[in-house]
Amino acid sequence: MRVTNFLALAAFFGATIADDVYLGFNSGSTTDSSTAKRQADFEKEFTVAQTLQGTPGLFNSIRLYTNVQANTDDTPIEAFPAAIKTNTKLLLGLWCSGTTSIDNELNALTKAIKQYGKDFTDLVVGISVGSEDLYRVSAPGIKNKSGPGASANTIVGFIKDVRNKLKDTALSKTPVGHVDTWTSWVNESNKDVIANSDFIGTNLFPYYEDDKGNAINNASNVFYAALNATEKAAGEKPVWITETGWPATGPDFGQAKATLDNAKSFWKDVGCTIFGRKNVWWYVLRDSNPENKAKFAITPKLDTTPQFDLTCPVSTGTPIATDSTPSPSRTPSPSSTSTGNSTSTGNNDQTSDKPGSATGTSVSFMGTLTAVLLTGFALAAWIV
Ligand SMILES: *[C@@H]1O[C@H](CO)[C@@H](O)[C@H](O)[C@H]1NC(C)=O
Ligand SMILES: *[C@@H]1O[C@H](CO)[C@@H](O)[C@H](O)[C@H]1NC(C)=O
Ligand SMILES: *[C@@H]1O[C@H](CO)[C@@H](O)[C@H](O)[C@H]1NC(C)=O
Ligand SMILES: *[C@@H]1O[C@H](CO)[C@@H](O)[C@H](O)[C@H]1NC(C)=O
Ligand SMILES: *[C@@H]1O[C@H](CO)[C@@H](O)[C@H](O)[C@H]1NC(C)=O
Repeated sequence: MRVTNFLALAAFFGATIADDVYLGFNSGSTTDSSTAKRQADFEKEFTVAQTLQGTPGLFNSIRLYTNVQANTDDTPIEAFPAAIKTNTKLLLGLWCSGTTSIDNELNALTKAIKQYGKDFTDLVVGISVGSEDLYRVSAPGIKNKSGPGASANTIVGFIKDVRNKLKDTALSKTPVGHVDTWTSWVNESNKDVIANSDFIGTNLFPYYEDDKGNAINNASNVFYAALNATEKAAGEKPVWITETGWPATGPDFGQAKATLDNAKSFWKDVGCTIFGRKNVWWYVLRDSNPENKAKFAITPKLDTTPQFDLTCPVSTGTPIATDSTPSPSRTPSPSSTSTGNSTSTGNNDQTSDKPGSATGTSVSFMGTLTAVLLTGFALAAWIV
C-alpha cells in the first residue's frame, strides 16, 4: 500500500514535471564556416546535446530555422533523419524573410512527411513560421542593418499557408506560431501575428539590450522584464523561450561584456530558473552564424565537456527535465545532494555506458528529486 501510493506519487510528479516541457538548443543549417551541415553533423550535434556533462536535464529538443537542406531548393533538411536516429524533438522553422512565397519550405516539409512518416511527425512539437522577421523590418532592425525581414501581414499570410498545407497531414494539430524579439511582440503593430499564432516564440538577449542596464549582475532583471512584457502582450497564448544565452567572446554592448565567466553566470542566474519550467531552446550549443562576432557556443568543438560548468545551484530548484519517471531504486541519498556529487539516474541510454558523462541529471535535479521523494514518503505514510 505504502509502496503503491509512493509509486503513484512518484509517477504523478514525474509526469507533471517532465512531460511536455521542452529543453534544447537552436541549430542552424550551416556551420560557423558556412558549410552545409549533413546528416552526420546533425547527428553528432544532437547526440552531444543529450550527453553534455552536468546539464540539469536532458537537452533532447532542437529548434531549426528552415526545413530546406542548405544549398538545395526544396530538399528536406538532413536534420530530420538525424533527429529520428537520436530521438530528438523538433521545433521546426520556416525561413520567411526576403521572399514572397514559402512554397520551397512547404515542399521540403511535405516531402519529409511522406518520406519519414510517423517517425518524423511524432517528433515535431511545433512549427515556427519565420524568425525575427518583424524585428528586421522595425526601426531598430533597420538601424542595425539586420537584413531583409517580413511584415506582420506577410507573416500572418504565411501562417495561413502553413495551416492550409498541413490540414490533411499528421501535423494538422501541431502548434503553429512565430519566433521574434520581445520588442516585436510588445509592438502593437504586430498584434495580428499573436492572434494567428498558437504559441509565441520569444528571443531574449540581455547582452544586446545596451540601453537597459545590462551588466551581467543585472542580466536576470533585464531578462525577466522582457519576458514579463512578452507574456503580457501574448495574453492567453503560451510563450516559448526560443533563444536566450550570453556569448563567451565578442564586442561589448552597453554594460554587457562577453566573457566565459559571464556566459556561465547567465546560465546559472537565468537558465537555471527557466529549464524544466518553460520551454527553452538555448542559444547555443554550437555557433552557426559567421557574420556574428559574438560567439555563444557552449561547446564550440562539440565536446561533451562544455566550456563551463552547466550544473544548476540547488538554490534555483531547477525541476526534473528528463524523460523518465523517478524510480525508488534510484533514490539518491540526501547526502549525495549536499556533497555536490552528480549521480546517474540511468535514464539516458546514451550516457549510461559512458563513465564521466553520467548526466542528464545534476545537483539541483537531485535536490528536487529528493524533496519530491521525501514528500512522497511522508504523504504515503500519512495516507496509510
Ligand atoms: C513597430 O512595428 C512597426 C511596423 O513593423 C515598425 O515600423 C516600428 O519601427 C516598430 N517599433 C519598434 C519600436 O520596433
Ligand atoms: C539594435 O538596436 C537597438 C536600439 O537601437 C539596440 O538596443 C540593440 O542592442 C541592437 N541590437 C543588435 C543585435 O545590435
Ligand atoms: C536593471 O534592469 C532593469 C530592467 O531593464 C532596469 O530597469 C534597471 O535600471 C537596471 N538596473 C541597473 C542598476 O542598471
Ligand atoms: C516578472 O514577473 C514575475 C511574476 O509576476 C515577478 O515576480 C517579477 O518580479 C517580474 N520581474 C520583473 C523584472 O519585472
Ligand atoms: C564524489 O563521490 C566519489 C565517490 O563516489 C568521491 O570519491 C568524491 O570525493 C565525491 N566528490 C565530492 C565532491 O564529494
